[in-house]
Amino acid sequence: MRVLISDARIKARLKQLAKEIRREFPEDTLHLIGVLKGSVFFLTDLARQLGGEVSFDFLSVSSYGQGTDSTGEVKLIKDLDVSIEGKTVIVVEDILDTGLTLKYLLRFFEEKKPKHLRVVVLLDKAERRIADVHADYTGFVIPNEFVVGYGLDFDERYRNLPDVCVVQFDSKTNGPFV
Ligand code: IMP
Repeated sequence: MRVLISDARIKARLKQLAKEIRREFPEDTLHLIGVLKGSVFFLTDLARQLGGEVSFDFLSVSSYGQGTDSTGEVKLIKDLDVSIEGKTVIVVEDILDTGLTLKYLLRFFEEKKPKHLRVVVLLDKAERRIADVHADYTGFVIPNEFVVGYGLDFDERYRNLPDVCVVQFDSKTNGPFV
């Protein structure tokens, strides 16, 4: 594993992102929607940097099988608990890759008539984009490498690493070098 973005850099960038978001909506209750499970640490750290009123909810979609390539298929696994109608919604995503997941999510949320809808992503693999979507707030643009840590997984492993790390794959076993 090679550290791509350290825990300290993530924390520093989160403070800036929180300020930018709060500056756009100084008075509103910000309703954060975390996309499980990769965005959990990002959402909870970001929430604690946002002053004022904050509420949150989670939903879960599947866009990947057990490998590292998108199937392009998005399926809702867990719906929201509460209505977002009239709320200032901030969708919190771990990583924007092909953009297919976000495209699906934006259509899903827009139908529910939030007052405002914004997207914050920690990581953006911009060169991999297929769908025509963008985040309103981006932590870091990263190269096209498979990353784990700070919530991101490889087959449900490595989510608990504090830094964002690049996985190096063994061409013989097709598994990660650890
Ligand atoms: P997209 O639909 O291709 O944009 O994929 C978004 C989702 O794919 C993210 O929410 C992640 O769960 C997963 N994903 C994409 N790239 C990576 C990666 O490098 N590491 C771990 N998960 C990834």
